[in-house]
Amino acid sequence: MTAAPLITLNDGRTMPQLGLGTWPLKDREAEQAVGDAIGLGYRHIDTARAYGNEKGVGRGVRGSGVPREELWVTTKLDGKFQGDDKAIAGLEQSLKLLRLDYVDLLLIHWPLPKSGKFQSTFRTFRKLQQAGLARSIGVSNFTADHLRTLIDGTGLVPAVNQIQIDPTIPREAQRAFAAEHGIVTQSWSPIGQGGDLLQHPEVAAIAEQLGRTPAQIVLRWHVQQGLVPVPKSKDPERMRSNLDVFDFALDEQQLSRLAALSLGPDAGVDSDRGGH
Ligand SMILES: NC(=O)c1ccc[n+]([C@@H]2O[C@H](COP(=O)([O-])OP(=O)(O)OC[C@H]3O[C@@H](n4cnc5c(N)ncnc54)[C@H](OP(=O)(O)O)[C@@H]3O)[C@@H](O)[C@H]2O)c1
Repeated sequence: MTAAPLITLNDGRTMPQLGLGTWPLKDREAEQAVGDAIGLGYRHIDTARAYGNEKGVGRGVRGSGVPREELWVTTKLDGKFQGDDKAIAGLEQSLKLLRLDYVDLLLIHWPLPKSGKFQSTFRTFRKLQQAGLARSIGVSNFTADHLRTLIDGTGLVPAVNQIQIDPTIPREAQRAFAAEHGIVTQSWSPIGQGGDLLQHPEVAAIAEQLGRTPAQIVLRWHVQQGLVPVPKSKDPERMRSNLDVFDFALDEQQLSRLAALSLGPDAGVDSDRGGH
């Protein structure tokens, strides 16, 4: 059984370097997928209030038979929980749906900078961390400017920024800023939602060379750069192979062939937009 190595966060905690994404699974499918994934060796599960599947994710976690402290569960709170300590009730509701006593990581789902509330929301997250309800706290879909505003305004540094990344959308500026501040970058849609990226001739050629699947090549690209991908699959065979990326390496030439797939610094979903 494969296990992802642990990566150390700036709060001293350690997180498995690859997790299972659960969007857009609904409760029943999420319960099944999470149970299957944990059985295959996954120890890190990614959900969000907005996915509407925390009940199913919690059932999968609790039914897995693996002790809670060996699992990493992330959830995210979206715009309606920003500002005025609204995140307190937000996380209480998530924990009730998950039927868990704490989450390992709580993220601000989108910065929504026009509403001007992400700084106060993150201060509330700090209170939730101090209360032991969220062991680590972070953000999602933050640009380098958003991160700077957050750190300068609150004196708090998030442990994680979860953003859309794949070889065509490398987001180097965000990653560099995060690295300078000891923030770990997680990758959402890490295999490009299973679309054209996995058919790309360059990815296919490297997969052929190494006797691996295109998804494994792309996931290996993430982990080799210290990123933490959360690929979603509801298919146990795909889950198994997506996790099986820790016993081979891409060489410099293969990494630069993948770097050449970049569509430039502005590619990808605009982080001022809401979404999943
Ligand atoms: N923070 C945010 O704003 C945000 C936004 C989007 C997503 N996320 C998180 O990131 C996770 C992953 O992103 P995502 O679901 O958008 O995209 P993804 O993980 O890049 O791709 C998932 C898609 O690829 C397919 N797939 C999985 N493994 C495969 C393989 N080995 N070969 C071919 N196809 C494969 C899946 O289908 P099957 O299930 O049929 O295998 C699914 O359709 C989400 O589930 C969610 O937890 C976060």
